[in-house]
Amino acid sequence: MQMTLTINGQSHSVDAPAAALLVDVLRDDLGLTGTHIGCDTSQCGACNVLVDGVGMKACTMLAAQAQGASITTIEGIGKSGGTLEALHPMQLAFREAHGLQCGFCTPGMVMAGMEMVRKHGTRLTPELVTHELEGNLCRCTGYINIVKAIVAGAAGMEASHA
Ligand code: FES
Ligand code: FES
Repeated sequence: MQMTLTINGQSHSVDAPAAALLVDVLRDDLGLTGTHIGCDTSQCGACNVLVDGVGMKACTMLAAQAQGASITTIEGIGKSGGTLEALHPMQLAFREAHGLQCGFCTPGMVMAGMEMVRKHGTRLTPELVTHELEGNLCRCTGYINIVKAIVAGAAGMEASHA
């Protein structure tokens, strides 16, 4: 079916099966491969995006359902330019706190951090972040630096009004 999706502020016309998952359309039809697929059980959070600003696992939603919504992927945060200054504060915090190793889970973790800020404001505690990370899996880091990164990223968002 023909569908129109608004991704990172741009409108895209896509011809995809009615049952296509949002994550597959993002990756396969639009080339937005920063949104990862880490499981087939909706448990890993590697596919996290924002739908009208709200965190969502893109493997749990049909692309057709996303019509009319504004979708933000990891490619749509921060600014263009490839410099450190261009990074979104949550991305910068992951870099500075060494919140990643292989990086596979990282886009989903960054989007999860942004969702935590939406839900709880910028004064996140490590305990709250740990609780909220229940839906995100990382096979490398042991989570400690991810928690530090999200707490720091929240503070960075507050400081920069991101
Ligand atoms: Fe969506 Fe794992 S790919 S939760
Ligand atoms: Fe490798 Fe998280 S950094 S899965």
